[in-house]
Amino acid sequence: MFRKVLKWHLLLPLEELNNWPPNGLKRASIKGKALCIAKRQNQYFALANKCPHAGADLSTGWLNTKEEIVCPLHRFTFHCGSGENTSGHGFYLENYPTELRSDGLWLGLHQWAWPWDQSS
Ligand code: FES
Repeated sequence: MFRKVLKWHLLLPLEELNNWPPNGLKRASIKGKALCIAKRQNQYFALANKCPHAGADLSTGWLNTKEEIVCPLHRFTFHCGSGENTSGHGFYLENYPTELRSDGLWLGLHQWAWPWDQSS
């Protein structure tokens, strides 16, 4: 039987973290997933990049003062830590764990593995 494990992947190397866009958001992708990366006071958050309302690219939105990602199309807001829709429309963004390491920003993805696979 398979088990679910958290595997870490280098998402953004250190040099990419130094030139952060002024809107506080950056688009990235890994393993076929498009992500919106938010930077808030040296903390990084990774969420799905596609707005669940009508599919806008969230990385072209901006961060407001309440740690929320604002969608550029209809301005729905999402908490960058939890992915919860804070404008009251009942949506939710999938979010992923991140870790800042000496070589860059790492992203945790849950994957299925064989019970004897110890590579996680
Ligand atoms: S597409 Fe994001 S709020 Fe409508």
